[in-house]
Amino acid sequence: MTEEPELDVLLGTERTFPPPPAFAEAAAFNDPGIYERAAADPEGWWRGWAEQLEWIEPFDRVLDWSDPPHAKWFAGGKLNVSANCLDRHVAAGNGDRVAYYWEAEDADQTGPEGRKQITYAWLLDQTQRFANVLKGLGVGKGDVVGIFMPMVPEAAVAMLACSRIGAVHNVVFGGFSAESLRERMEVSEAKALVTADATLRRGKPVEMKGQIDPVLDQLPAMEHVIVVDRCGTGPSMNEGRDLDWAEAVSAADPVCPPEPMDAEDPLYLLYTSGSTAKPKGIVHTTAGYLTHVTATHRMVFDLKDDDVYWCAADIGWVTGHSYIVYGPLANGATSVMYEGAPDYPGKDRWWEIVERYRASILYTAPTAIRSFMKWGDEYPAAHDLSSLRLLGSVGEPINPRAWLWYHEKIGGARCPIVDTWWQTETGGIMISPLPGLTTTKPGSATVPLPGIEAAILDSEDNEVEVGAGTLVLTRPWPGMARTLYREPERFVETYWQRYGPATYLVGDAARRDEDGFFWIVGRIDDVINVSGHRLSTMEVESALVSHPSVAEAAVIGVNDEHTGQAIVAFVTPRDGVEAGPELTADLREHVADRIGKLARPKQTLFASDLPKTRSGKIMRRLLRDVADGNDLGDVSTLRDPSVVESLSEQISRDR
Ligand code: WT7
Repeated sequence: MTEEPELDVLLGTERTFPPPPAFAEAAAFNDPGIYERAAADPEGWWRGWAEQLEWIEPFDRVLDWSDPPHAKWFAGGKLNVSANCLDRHVAAGNGDRVAYYWEAEDADQTGPEGRKQITYAWLLDQTQRFANVLKGLGVGKGDVVGIFMPMVPEAAVAMLACSRIGAVHNVVFGGFSAESLRERMEVSEAKALVTADATLRRGKPVEMKGQIDPVLDQLPAMEHVIVVDRCGTGPSMNEGRDLDWAEAVSAADPVCPPEPMDAEDPLYLLYTSGSTAKPKGIVHTTAGYLTHVTATHRMVFDLKDDDVYWCAADIGWVTGHSYIVYGPLANGATSVMYEGAPDYPGKDRWWEIVERYRASILYTAPTAIRSFMKWGDEYPAAHDLSSLRLLGSVGEPINPRAWLWYHEKIGGARCPIVDTWWQTETGGIMISPLPGLTTTKPGSATVPLPGIEAAILDSEDNEVEVGAGTLVLTRPWPGMARTLYREPERFVETYWQRYGPATYLVGDAARRDEDGFFWIVGRIDDVINVSGHRLSTMEVESALVSHPSVAEAAVIGVNDEHTGQAIVAFVTPRDGVEAGPELTADLREHVADRIGKLARPKQTLFASDLPKTRSGKIMRRLLRDVADGNDLGDVSTLRDPSVVESLSEQISRDR
């Protein structure tokens, strides 16, 4: 660890990283003029990208923004997403091309079954068959299909099959609880669900179907459940409702013509956390979304024919939708899809995968990078990572220290890093370097992509040229969310009201430096970002207060070295309930049941009352100060000043 002090010195001097000359020269996008050209004619810029898709009927108009915030992109056009992702590549003679090198978590124990080469032809065959299975079950255009799956190829097939027949998928991350799944299926009135018997977690099957069976009975709209047999655990099957994936798919007709979809027909719903306890159903549509993810995947990752691209996200998050499934497949890319944990069976699993498949592009999250840093340099050092030529980061601000480690230990100091800022709502990448053009600064997502416009506004709503404020997007973009499912007013209120109907409120604070570079600071709303997973304080609070021992709860996000942010809960137990380690453990379990393990508080503090103003408002800022161990200043205006003392004591005792 001799280079540590040197690294620290470097962190203080803003080091910059121009694209390596050879990289820039070979890059598809190395003409700085594209920024100006796209800014001068953004619609022409996006038209150029849309025209590279395959249309069943051409569009009449690029953008209709006559009724903001309701945008229509490529109106009049008809196309099918699965046909763009599959059929056209097979028709071009690329059926044998590998779409995914799929690696099972237990690949070492299972032989060839654990390492599959999924070709475009195979994906197309399975997609058509599964599309026919859905049709046979009465699922059609506009119907919602839930997907609750491990990272197996069938998850991508299920998504593509929905898009083929115009059904709207609603993927729920496999780590969410049965209760979270129930809520998301109920509010979207999903008609069918695709799931698996179980998922592997560090070598052991953890049941999925059995876990969700109790809630499936509570969903009146849910007619069918299709179960992928991943682990051979033999889950109980409800006759008439549940069917086995493999049986159904092998019996299905292998031909299913793609449904011609309107440009603005919905492609999928994806629930994400907002400021209230109720998740928001983000709605993405067909043509604009596909154009955005195709363009950004190609540009930001400088995608070439011989690249082996690995986005290590989960399909259950938007990163998986846009940059494991739709962007890469529309571009005919060859990807790696890895099923399991990064430290199973050893802490070098990822680097073994990079070496095995000669991965050339790796896209992951800062929280993963920080874990690898913590585990030690020896794990990546033990493998040949020379195939890598480009690295990406997403999900939260990447601290310069992690950036530099990624650059040196993974990228061998030769790979550019693209720090990509975007959101579930934006559909695709918005602020990011172009690796052949942008001189990067560790910690900055740099500048908006060509065709994208962002600004920072101060507390008086004036644009800040250099300085900090609220991040907004000032021009519509093709991948933008169109609405919130069945909550159109909430869509307008949340994103398009504060600064008028044509300015999108991101929910992040950011700073712009003298070079016009954006530095994302963090959320300005009640959203907590734990390991790149988005949760709302209210969601966790309402889970806590639903426990019979809890009278009141408040939750805040605190900075955490490894997970970015972590959850700290402040809880007032009901009278007669004993506060202590047992209750803490109980509450963690309860939150895991209600939301998922990712939402469990890292720390729980008990108090007979929460710090409140005399009018009864919980002082969250004060809770944050308590958690950070800050000087609390004058607390005499509180209803009961002794409360904070007791909390502060617990904090210092716990640490
Ligand atoms: C929020 C969106 C984008 C897909 C994964 C997360 C934060 C995301 C960055 C980045 C700084 C980032 C923001 C954003 N975020 N990428 N490169 N630098 N912050 O999607 O769950 O919708 O969360 O993640 O706070 O608003 P999401």
